[in-house]
Amino acid sequence: MKDITSKLSLVGKNLQGSEIRRLFEVSMQPNVISFAGGMPDPDSFPAQQVAEAYFELLSERGELLLQYGPSRGTAEGVQAAGYLMSRHGIRVSGEEILITNGGQQGINIVTQVLIDPGDVILMENPTFVGALGVFRNARAKLVGIPMDSEGLMPAKLEKAAQDCMNRGEKIKFLYIITNFQNPTGLSLAPERRPEILQIARKYDFLVLEDDPYGELFFKGPRDRVRPLKALDTDSRVIYAGSFSKIISPGIRLGWLASTPQLIERFDMARQMMDVCTNPLIQAMADRLCSSGFLDRHIGNLRGIYAGRCEAMLAALKESMPGGVTWTKPEGGFYIWLTLPGPLSALKMLPKAIEQKVVYVIGNASSPDQSADASMRISFCHEDEKTIEEGITRLARTIHSMMGKSK
Ligand SMILES: Cc1ncc(COP(=O)(O)O)c(C=O)c1O
Repeated sequence: MKDITSKLSLVGKNLQGSEIRRLFEVSMQPNVISFAGGMPDPDSFPAQQVAEAYFELLSERGELLLQYGPSRGTAEGVQAAGYLMSRHGIRVSGEEILITNGGQQGINIVTQVLIDPGDVILMENPTFVGALGVFRNARAKLVGIPMDSEGLMPAKLEKAAQDCMNRGEKIKFLYIITNFQNPTGLSLAPERRPEILQIARKYDFLVLEDDPYGELFFKGPRDRVRPLKALDTDSRVIYAGSFSKIISPGIRLGWLASTPQLIERFDMARQMMDVCTNPLIQAMADRLCSSGFLDRHIGNLRGIYAGRCEAMLAALKESMPGGVTWTKPEGGFYIWLTLPGPLSALKMLPKAIEQKVVYVIGNASSPDQSADASMRISFCHEDEKTIEEGITRLARTIHSMMGKSK
């Protein structure tokens, strides 16, 4: 066929590969240190426990677990999701949960069911690149709200909501990653949480709360990561959860929690996408939760990521030139680093690749391309020694861009 691309739909034509995926190839080259991916530490995957659970479950009832399952999720999947939410003080019934193939599918389903072209989605600026892609495909109007060290700024949110109202635009929801945000590592301060809900009520929009990192706090108290969903008194918050960062991303297991009316719609959309989530994986996750293993495992993960974050922060302090700033996360996977003006993280990337270190450029995560001076550097995947070496290489690159070789 001559020009097969003439057959593409509007969405098909506008599809763009993720910046992060593109960097994967570079990261695979020998001796490259990658701070680009958001991949969990592979040595911490509980392969042994997963294998044992699969073996036992398939021996007990393979005929059921290898069959199609309910599109909403199996009773065990719903129980596992309920267990993780109850740790955060979220109490919902089974009919308020839809099991998904990862958190990303949850974002897709919500967008498909709620968004018409031109609808406004409010979001942190910067935000998760995977969500940005989904929202752009749906041709939503993206409105980024600035953050400070305490997370999304309520006064700026209110101003943006008011401006949209004045222009007669329809705000469908605020997309927010409340805990250890991707890409900044920042969390919404506890005092701001009721305030955000109050603004959502005042301007009558929904909140899509994406919380894959909430369990990965380095220190207590747990109260600091209490999700908006736990404070939601008028069913305004749709909660998206995931097992990717606490069991493994390869199992593709997540969920949505919302009112039964919306869950019913989400379920209908999901039936047409991919029928159901693998019942065996849901049973395995439930077994890891109910045996008490997952609780201990999460404790170990917190220690691993806290150590790596500390190593990265110490290396940054040691080697970065004056004028470079960075966030100081208390959990999760990411640090957000900002170069002094007029340096551009995009223009610097080829130089960093020469030094064999890679990161994600800030603008990949920005709805309005206002983050050219920033980058996301992940501490989740590399060990402490490699992190130190990678930050030394990054500092060398920045020094040379600033005209001061070190
Ligand atoms: C904020 C955020 N939401 C959702 C996801 C998607 O996770 P999942 O593997 O559950 O689809 C990620 C993955 O990195 C993420 O960082």
